[in-house]
Amino acid sequence: MTACLRNKKSNDPRDPVFAGSASCVKCHKDIYDSYLTTAHFQTSRPASIHSVHGSFLQNSNIFHFSKDKWIRMENHNGNLYQVAYVNGKKTEAEKFDITIGGVKAETYLYWKGKQLFEMPISYFKALHGWTNSPGYDSGRMNFNRPILRRCLECHSSYIKEIPQPGINMAHKTVELDSTSLIYGIDCERCHGPAANHVNFHTQFPDEKKAKYITTYSSLTRSQKLDACAVCHSGNKGAFQISAFVFKQGDTLAKFREPDFSPQNPNPATMDVHGNQNGLLASSKCFLMSNMDCSTCHNPHEKESLNLAVYSQKCMQCHNEANHNFCKMPTQSGAILKNNCIDCHMPAKPSNVIRVESVDGKMAIPYMVRTHRIAVYPEESKKIMSFIKSQKDF
Ligand code: HEC
Ligand code: HEC
Ligand code: HEC
Ligand code: HEC
Ligand code: HEC
Ligand code: HEC
Ligand code: HEC
Repeated sequence: MTACLRNKKSNDPRDPVFAGSASCVKCHKDIYDSYLTTAHFQTSRPASIHSVHGSFLQNSNIFHFSKDKWIRMENHNGNLYQVAYVNGKKTEAEKFDITIGGVKAETYLYWKGKQLFEMPISYFKALHGWTNSPGYDSGRMNFNRPILRRCLECHSSYIKEIPQPGINMAHKTVELDSTSLIYGIDCERCHGPAANHVNFHTQFPDEKKAKYITTYSSLTRSQKLDACAVCHSGNKGAFQISAFVFKQGDTLAKFREPDFSPQNPNPATMDVHGNQNGLLASSKCFLMSNMDCSTCHNPHEKESLNLAVYSQKCMQCHNEANHNFCKMPTQSGAILKNNCIDCHMPAKPSNVIRVESVDGKMAIPYMVRTHRIAVYPEESKKIMSFIKSQKDF
């Protein structure tokens, strides 16, 4: 049965068992359209004037490394470049090929032959401007940070690594096949290969029960969590096999070194960036309920940035009727109810991402919501005095 369903072979670079996102739109149009607005879909895309948000206008297109060394962002008929100058003389120019990110920051990659490198200058939204890229020393101007497959394991759906027998890993460069790159995190990156699903439902349009696809509700809690944790449990851990192989229904134990297990969290050393899984797992809410990521997030929708909506999710479990509502003594119940988040999941600066102002003199914190849900007396005090100051005004 399965074999005859594979009559329509896809050209998906992963394997013909994948159908490609474009084939989902026919039957899942609402999900597809809303998914196009998500950070997951947009996390990698071809660089163009539409996906690069920093300015190419004179006076706002230069990042100085020192008085006589700078990089200028240049737009030549829609082709975008980072151009290095020493004492006013051009020393290197590379073309923006790939944009990564877009919510808080964007970084850019360029191809040199079959190798991928990060560009020295990134864009940081909070600054509305250019900054030195993470992984680069702001004192030195160069273009030499290699980008390995690992980056794209979290920021794309696939790229093929070209095997190079006998390569010296000390050089830390690998060859990648640019034509195999599938931008963004696509439907099948989360749901697993779906060509048989597409073929079956195309042949049997009256069948309303999903076939040949993993049913999310049938997964165990740890399978559900790991389907997100494959990319949301920190980016330091070495994978024994490529994370591209991970499918919904797998567990990370198969992929990771044992000490990476979220059963053993040490929240004190966990960075807020990228480790939502570990931090959440150390929260009382998580330990004493059955919550998972989709308790609060819908992966097909753009994050609303509306803290009142998230607070509603908290109140599904915490409310007066359950006698486990907030113990914070306050006169303003409305304020409490609209924003559980700033007091119990405050935004904290990441220690692994360093951003500097254009002149390289000021460090700008890169703030990420902590997923360790807890009582934070300091943050709560700040919020309370802010509320009070608003009232006095
Ligand atoms: C020819 C129609 C058709 C196409 C094309 C199609 N699906 Fe489906 N899909 C269905 C039907 C019918 C169901 C069952 C009803 C429902 O949940 O919408 C379903 C359900 C699903 C479910 C829910 C499974 C569950 O029960 O939890 C997922 C996930 C899914 N499809 C993913 C995909 C992906 C990914 C693609 C593209 C690669 C795709 N579908 C393409 C018809 C289709
Ligand atoms: C293949 C890797 C991958 C998987 C799997 C994945 N994510 Fe993500 N997620 C990312 C990356 C990368 C970003 C950052 C995207 C960006 O801003 O460029 C992100 C961003 C997010 C954001 C922030 C969105 C925003 O608008 O700021 C949320 C929330 C999120 N993911 C939740 C989830 C949940 C829930 C799951 C599981 C159902 C999941 N992710 C699975 C890689 C992944
Ligand atoms: C970041 C991971 C992620 C991506 C990307 C993603 N999904 Fe889902 N999808 C999920 C999760 C998790 C659920 C289960 C949500 C739940 O039941 O709480 C789900 C549920 C579904 C369902 C069944 C429930 C429903 O909402 O109708 C369908 C159908 C579906 N997805 C199709 C798609 C299609 C089509 C795409 C691409 C356009 C896509 N998904 C992209 C993670 C993802
Ligand atoms: C293990 C998965 C993982 C790896 C590996 C990874 N990232 Fe990320 N990255 C994330 C997640 C998750 C986020 C967003 C949420 C957060 O900040 O916690 C993110 C955020 C970002 C952002 C900010 C996106 C935005 O929209 O604001 C950039 C830029 C970025 N990563 C670039 C890179 C680069 C370049 C590499 C490789 C050197 C890399 N990442 C490696 C998971 C990963
Ligand atoms: C799925 C149910 C559930 C959801 C959703 C939930 N919690 Fe909890 N939470 C619990 C349980 C259970 C406990 C432990 C017992 C108790 O205190 O009632 C807890 C404990 C807490 C604690 C005490 C933590 C400590 O370390 O002492 C705080 C604070 C808290 N939750 C805030 C929140 C906030 C804020 C949200 C929304 C962002 C939230 N919770 C969402 C179930 C939940
Ligand atoms: C109890 C609710 C809750 C649960 C459960 C939850 N989150 Fe979140 N998440 C939030 C809130 C609230 C924000 C902040 C949204 C904002 O600031 O607009 C957030 C933000 C994020 C972000 C963006 C971080 C940033 O600051 O840029 C990512 C990524 C994310 N969540 C991933 C996950 C993953 C993965 C899981 C499961 C391991 C998860 N979340 C579970 C409530 C939750
Ligand atoms: C202005 C900051 C602030 C806001 C807003 C706030 N909380 Fe709290 N919350 C606190 C503080 C501080 C405590 C500890 C109070 C004490 O123990 O004296 C607390 C205690 C709690 C506890 C009990 C923890 C325990 O030790 O048992 C829960 C549960 C909780 N909050 C949930 C919520 C939820 C849900 C919301 C949103 C509806 C919310 N909080 C809004 C600051 C806040």
